[in-house]
Amino acid sequence: MKLRVLLAALGPAVVEADSGLFQPTFITASGDQVFQLGNARYLAVTSDPVAVLPYFSTPFQGPIAHISVASGALTRDALEETTEKYLTDDDVFTKRFLGKIIITESNSTHLEFSDAECLKESRSDIIYACGNPRSASGLPQGPLFAVANGTSLHLSKVYGLYEDSYRTFMNGVYESHGSHKTLDFFEPPWGHPMIPVPSRLYSIGDDRPLAGKRIGVKDIYDVKGVQTTCGSRAYSQVYGPANVTAPSIQRLIDLGGVVVGKQKTAQFASAAFGWQWTDAYYPQNPRGDGLLSCSASSSGGGCSIAAYDWLDVAIGSNTGQSVRQPAAFSGIYGNRPSQGLMSLDQVMPIGYGVDTAGCFSRDPDEWIAFARAWYDPSLHQDPSLNRLPALSVPDERTFPKRILYPVDHLPLRNAAAEALLQQFLANVFSILNATVEKFNLTEAIEHSTERPLVDVLQDFGVLCGHDQLKDVATPLLEKYAPKFPALDMPFREMFRNFTLDDAQYERALQNRSRDAELWHRNVLFPTNDSCSESIIIYDIGTGGLPSFREKELNESPGAAFPVETGTAGTASITASYFGDLDMTIPIGQVSYFSNVTYEEVFMPVTVNLMARRGCDLVLFNLISELSKKGIVKTVATGREAYGT
Ligand SMILES: *[C@@H]1O[C@H](CO)[C@@H](O)[C@H](O)[C@H]1NC(C)=O
Ligand SMILES: *[C@@H]1O[C@H](CO)[C@@H](O)[C@H](O)[C@H]1NC(C)=O
Ligand SMILES: *[C@@H]1O[C@H](CO)[C@@H](O)[C@H](O)[C@H]1NC(C)=O
Ligand SMILES: *[C@@H]1O[C@H](CO)[C@@H](O)[C@H](O)[C@H]1NC(C)=O
Ligand SMILES: *[C@@H]1O[C@H](CO)[C@@H](O)[C@H](O)[C@H]1NC(C)=O
Ligand SMILES: *[C@@H]1O[C@H](CO)[C@@H](O)[C@H](O)[C@H]1NC(C)=O
Ligand SMILES: *[C@@H]1O[C@H](CO)[C@@H](O)[C@H](O)[C@H]1NC(C)=O
Ligand SMILES: *[C@@H]1O[C@H](CO)[C@@H](O)[C@H](O)[C@H]1NC(C)=O
Ligand SMILES: *[C@@H]1O[C@H](CO)[C@@H](O)[C@H](O)[C@H]1NC(C)=O
Repeated sequence: MKLRVLLAALGPAVVEADSGLFQPTFITASGDQVFQLGNARYLAVTSDPVAVLPYFSTPFQGPIAHISVASGALTRDALEETTEKYLTDDDVFTKRFLGKIIITESNSTHLEFSDAECLKESRSDIIYACGNPRSASGLPQGPLFAVANGTSLHLSKVYGLYEDSYRTFMNGVYESHGSHKTLDFFEPPWGHPMIPVPSRLYSIGDDRPLAGKRIGVKDIYDVKGVQTTCGSRAYSQVYGPANVTAPSIQRLIDLGGVVVGKQKTAQFASAAFGWQWTDAYYPQNPRGDGLLSCSASSSGGGCSIAAYDWLDVAIGSNTGQSVRQPAAFSGIYGNRPSQGLMSLDQVMPIGYGVDTAGCFSRDPDEWIAFARAWYDPSLHQDPSLNRLPALSVPDERTFPKRILYPVDHLPLRNAAAEALLQQFLANVFSILNATVEKFNLTEAIEHSTERPLVDVLQDFGVLCGHDQLKDVATPLLEKYAPKFPALDMPFREMFRNFTLDDAQYERALQNRSRDAELWHRNVLFPTNDSCSESIIIYDIGTGGLPSFREKELNESPGAAFPVETGTAGTASITASYFGDLDMTIPIGQVSYFSNVTYEEVFMPVTVNLMARRGCDLVLFNLISELSKKGIVKTVATGREAYGT
């Protein structure tokens, strides 16, 4: 038979695997299998096979490659080409999976073998699943794990395991039986979590917009089956694993995204400094000398994207200055969306009216594509939570004509960083023909709202604490009071000694509605041809000076303390209070002499672009334009965001 000849020919050409290297390593609590091939580790989800095919053989188990060719195209060349393509397109699949091969013809219907006949072993190491057997249709391509028990072949998905050496994750998670499991396998000697990432080949033929995207999720979002910790041992001892997935995360999964782990957060998503973390180990920033700050609450997500090529996107949340500042400190893209753009149901709150969901990426176009897919009108926040008008989000390509440069926040402290900012503005000017105008942000807030800035900040403060104290601290204390494990320093007193003032909260919400209305009438307003008349720029980072995870390192003149919410005057709370969007965009890097490693190293410089609430897509369209012109670029992982 012709087929047999083809397969025999394929064998020596492609199969370089040394299947003897397969080593089972560890069986997880849920019965899944960790194994090793060469130096690489894998997880096989053997407790939840993707296919069970009738198959008579002596029992065996181990890695197997599934190669799918178009029907009628089963030639030696086609098999070799497909295999080569698999090897170049994926970081999980390797030649070591080729010790056993299962071949299917992708859309064949004309071959009419019965399942059992098709799946006879045609050679010792090649299994041919022909004729589109019902049970093999939709079988993921590439690396799989086979367990043959004599009468059946169980095929399971295989995840590549990457070590989280920067400690940005709480732990790795993976999908199983329609829920998620925490991977209970860690790398000695440091106990780094291992993060399971799916083969890129599993999304071949899946045209959903986020198919196969590997996504890290801040550990305040519920993922069904997984413990949400909010960075607190007390919290995770009181609550069991989540029994539903947050709608914001479920949307990612529905769009084909793969949640690969829960990521570090400052306890209860606070603004705590790195040196105030006790329950969790503060994540490490790959940039510069390795001791730079990752900022506060979404620090795990930001630094993970700067660290790992194997991770595509991270989901953070923003109330005060998160997402935006972690993005600035790690030199990546990150956004605070318009207030209300994404539901935060099943996510630990700080303040429902000021919490938002943002995402991190290294690549501007991927970031934009991700955001466009994720933010869907069906998931807008209930306006009763934020007391702002219902959102309208036009998808226009006419851009603001004015860039407002706040003299109370700029220039950047480091002149080399300011030069990068000026170059960026000149480039934007050449594209947009927008004028750059100096203005005083503090004055703009005070004039438009007719209130002193301190009063506005006070109301923002009221909006921030109330919901967390009511819906997180109160039930936590009720359930756990007798033997409370210590909370991290910023919460010890706050969570034990507070009075809830619902009336004050209500007044702050009303003030916010009124102030936002005035602000959007007087400062960030729409025009007939632009969603937002202007863009406000500023820097939520530290002006081109390094800011460190160790407190003392920040005390020298060449360094800067990471500014706390509201202390940068007002810039970072402007978007949070008025409900506007605010995006962090990397624009370059500057050097500093490290007093830790005694060498010249680089740190990223970013700029923030703020526009009127609802103009997210317009700003994304603008950034996409800047990307086309090469003004904003993909950043690299590791010590330097930009290659030298
Ligand atoms: C089968 O797959 C090939 C290549 O993937 C495609 O060109 C062809 O149209 C498909 N045939 C059917 C019937 O879907
Ligand atoms: C082999 O697997 C099939 C399908 O899962 C199962 O029905 C059968 O009982 C198994 N046989 C043995 C010997 O375990
Ligand atoms: C989920 O858990 C909560 C709190 O433990 C409980 O009140 C609720 O009934 C559970 N929901 C489901 C669908 O099991
Ligand atoms: C901005 O305005 C505030 C409030 O009027 C004022 O205190 C501050 O000095 C101004 N800053 C600059 C740089 O003009
Ligand atoms: C750019 O803007 C200036 C003034 O705002 C205007 O005079 C000029 O025609 C514009 N140029 C283009 C190419 O739009
Ligand atoms: C509780 O908070 C109040 C008001 O902030 C403060 O005066 C008081 O000292 C606190 N009590 C304790 C025991 O910390
Ligand atoms: C709300 O605004 C009023 C008027 O400016 C002010 O007196 C009050 O302190 C503000 N905030 C609250 C929580 O009442
Ligand atoms: C904007 O549009 C409105 C209604 O179409 C019109 O009355 C107004 O004059 C326009 N404004 C400008 C500045 O063109
Ligand atoms: C390094 O130390 C010197 C001497 O104390 C100090 O002047 C400089 O600012 C420090 N650099 C950084 C980046 O902290």
